[in-house]
Amino acid sequence: MSIKLAPSLLAADFSKLGEEVSAIEKAGAEYLHLDVMDGHLVPNLSFGTTVLAGLRKHSNMVFDTHLMISEPHKYVESFAKAGADIITIHVECDSNIGETLDQIHALGKKAGLALNPDADLSRAVPYFDKIDMLLLMTVYAGFGGQSYISDVEPKIREARKLLGPDFDIQVDGGIYLTNVESPIAAGANVIVAGSAVFGSEDPAQAVRDFKAKF
Ligand code: DX5
Ligand code: ZN
Repeated sequence: MSIKLAPSLLAADFSKLGEEVSAIEKAGAEYLHLDVMDGHLVPNLSFGTTVLAGLRKHSNMVFDTHLMISEPHKYVESFAKAGADIITIHVECDSNIGETLDQIHALGKKAGLALNPDADLSRAVPYFDKIDMLLLMTVYAGFGGQSYISDVEPKIREARKLLGPDFDIQVDGGIYLTNVESPIAAGANVIVAGSAVFGSEDPAQAVRDFKAKF
């Protein structure tokens, strides 16, 4: 199983986004994780399509777009056009999940489904044939810099059992060099890290340190 690193832009220095992104790209990060928040599904706001479109011209990384928004069906087309490669929606959102996942595929993009720590895996099972990636949140969606919730690990193990060895299972929240082995041991293979990469003094070195662990 190949392990991929997805640094989260949320923790980057927004006064120099282009430089931040090219540093982690050169260091070998596979995905750029883009956290989009609407102040409804989660109690915080972040950024939208203009940031993706701006960065798209400067980066060939996979744009892994995590939509923490209540009505993603209204916006997936704009995110696809802005340069998203993977579009992940939350099982807790208000859109029709199956239809929105179909819509993402019809736009030629990969579809992901995210579950907050308290959402049972059974809520995602009906959509397994419509997704390319399952995102199991290891913090409650909404803010960077929270603490890793290890209680999610049995859910990661169960998902790996159900989805098989090659399926992409992503974990997001509170992951650092010091604890990344735990979600990987449970079966995760796409690792989001915000504070641990962009919050560090040398994001490129942080990427290399993570990759040395995989
Ligand atoms: C939380 C976001 C995360 C966050 C991760 O809602 O989905 O992607 O940026 O940040 P850290 O790694 O700092 O927990
Ligand atoms: Zn995220």
